[in-house]
Amino acid sequence: MSNQLIQSNVDFSGSAFLASSNVRANAHRLNWRSKVLVSGYANDFNGKRVLDLASHDGRFMHAALAHGATSVVGVEVRADHIDSARANLAQGGHSRDRYEVVSADLVEYLKSVEPGGFDTILCFGVLSHLIEHVDVMREIGRIAPGAFILDTWVALERWNLWERLRNHRVNSFVRRTQQGGLANASLRGRVQGWLNDVVPGPRSRTGNLVFLYEDAAAPGATARQSGLMGWANCSLVEMLFDHFGLTHERVDWRAQGVDDWSELEDYRRGNRESWVARGSRA
Ligand SMILES: C[S@@+](CC[C@H](N)C(=O)[O-])C[C@H]1O[C@@H](n2cnc3c(N)ncnc32)[C@H](O)[C@@H]1O
Repeated sequence: MSNQLIQSNVDFSGSAFLASSNVRANAHRLNWRSKVLVSGYANDFNGKRVLDLASHDGRFMHAALAHGATSVVGVEVRADHIDSARANLAQGGHSRDRYEVVSADLVEYLKSVEPGGFDTILCFGVLSHLIEHVDVMREIGRIAPGAFILDTWVALERWNLWERLRNHRVNSFVRRTQQGGLANASLRGRVQGWLNDVVPGPRSRTGNLVFLYEDAAAPGATARQSGLMGWANCSLVEMLFDHFGLTHERVDWRAQGVDDWSELEDYRRGNRESWVARGSRA
């Protein structure tokens, strides 16, 4: 879980971004998120083509541009946020030909991106407002960016003993009835198989997606009219990374030197997690 050396940072104090949004628009929080998730991976921004999913008022487009991105495309579904982003980025003095704010649903937008179309893709603060976790991860695996930086609320990790035991029973049934049984397996092999299926470990992870409702009219909320959104647990996020061929590293927020956790409690408690995943293009 090692980050690259933190090289520089963007200071949101007194910036237009504090007035253009009421979605956790706090300078201390934005500074730390930028420091850890952008400055911490500076090589994934300098000279790179960046896509910012759910770009909101342009806060992390600004950070990406300030870290030397050659181009930044932001995708946002709410018109008022798009207007704010355009105004903020113009006010930030960024060259107009280096950024674009696209009005689109990010799930649909991702489907239009060519493999290798972006070097770095940001997905900050939005995965838990979606219900299309598999679709997003499939598209990221297909596009295979050099870096996919994910920052999201996560659901509680659950042990799911009954589900593991049931899965073990189903697997055993299939082996017994369709794969020649376990007649040749040693006792040690059988016990090991049971342990692999039931005891927490790489092959027995249980990914959970908890569906909840939120107020779809809230500024940072889902774009789905029903208000339905889904919180994945960490296991699910990592299982999907693995499944779609993305190598990944979880960001260790507690190792970042945060001295004041106010406005960052969700990271300290582990209710919110961040990852850097990388695609592989053959
Ligand atoms: C909580 S804010 C996160 C803003 C910013 N990325 C951050 O991390 O600070 C979520 C943003 O996602 C946008 N959003 C929600 N669903 C979306 C979708 N399906 N496609 C594009 N944007 C979406 C919302 O309008 C809102 O601006």
